[in-house]
Amino acid sequence: MANNLLKGKKGLIFGALNENSIAWKTAERAVAEGAEIVLTNTPISLRMGTINELAKKCNTIVIPADATSVEDLEQLFDKTMEHFGGKFDFILHSVGMSPNVRKGITYDNLNYEYLSKTLDISAISFHKVIKVAYQKDALNEWGSIVALSYLAAQRTLYGYNDMADAKALLESIARSFGCIYGRERNVRINTVSQSPTPTTAGGGISGFSNLLEYGETLSPLGNASAEDCADYILTLFSDFTRKVTMQNLYHDGGFSSIVMSPELMEIFEKGIKENS
Ligand SMILES: NC(=O)c1ccc[n+]([C@@H]2O[C@H](COP(=O)([O-])OP(=O)(O)OC[C@H]3O[C@@H](n4cnc5c(N)ncnc54)[C@H](O)[C@@H]3O)[C@@H](O)[C@H]2O)c1
Repeated sequence: MANNLLKGKKGLIFGALNENSIAWKTAERAVAEGAEIVLTNTPISLRMGTINELAKKCNTIVIPADATSVEDLEQLFDKTMEHFGGKFDFILHSVGMSPNVRKGITYDNLNYEYLSKTLDISAISFHKVIKVAYQKDALNEWGSIVALSYLAAQRTLYGYNDMADAKALLESIARSFGCIYGRERNVRINTVSQSPTPTTAGGGISGFSNLLEYGETLSPLGNASAEDCADYILTLFSDFTRKVTMQNLYHDGGFSSIVMSPELMEIFEKGIKENS
């Protein structure tokens, strides 16, 4: 069901690795809604993933860039503007990785070099992307920038590890730069705090399948899927949300606002009876 919500808009999408990626679904839905897009990801992910298939489907190009490298980003923005023949309208930052999580190092024993990498890849890269866009004046007035966050920025989830610190920083960058970019050029910056979602990055969180089931049982509307997330992101790229900025927007079926559901209470009571 397409409504031409993004007709005439152009955007740059970071982070489509494979068909499970939130960025992949967003790219497909953005094009279905009339947008033109450019895709980007790291050179290694281009070899490991299937982004070229997505580019074919979306009738576009892929420009390799490491989002932690300002030099790469400068070239990426130049090439993107060359492709579009000028400025564009939206950016999706759907980028995250923690070497500590990958290597199973727990939060009480963090490797600090890895922590720096986590913060650089998962949060500071957002600042770099916005800074390059701002300095190159790459976005049209009333443009929109969105990054993906998670509730662990506010509430502790043991296995989320140093990604929680990265997400807190990411959300802060959206506010701090949102203030400048909004005031100077009417560009908005928000983060979407998404439900646990079965993707390559999501699957790296310890106890992920339990987390999914827990979310499904607790959230009044159930977990939000990657497709649901893509639809929500499109609204933030559309002209219907022009005055929404510097916000962290929960997209989680209500999970962040509830502590107990009747379904979970029933499971909990059964468990107590079985163990007594
Ligand atoms: N899956 C979840 O449960 C969940 C929940 C909330 C938020 N998020 C966030 O959503 C975003 C997208 O993740 P996803 O779940 O779609 O998983 P994904 O693994 O499909 O996407 C993560 C992407 O980050 C890219 N990336 C890593 N290092 C990079 C770098 N240096 N430069 C550029 N790109 C780089 C990867 O290549 C990959 O495409 C991440 O920010 C993630 O933290 C995910």
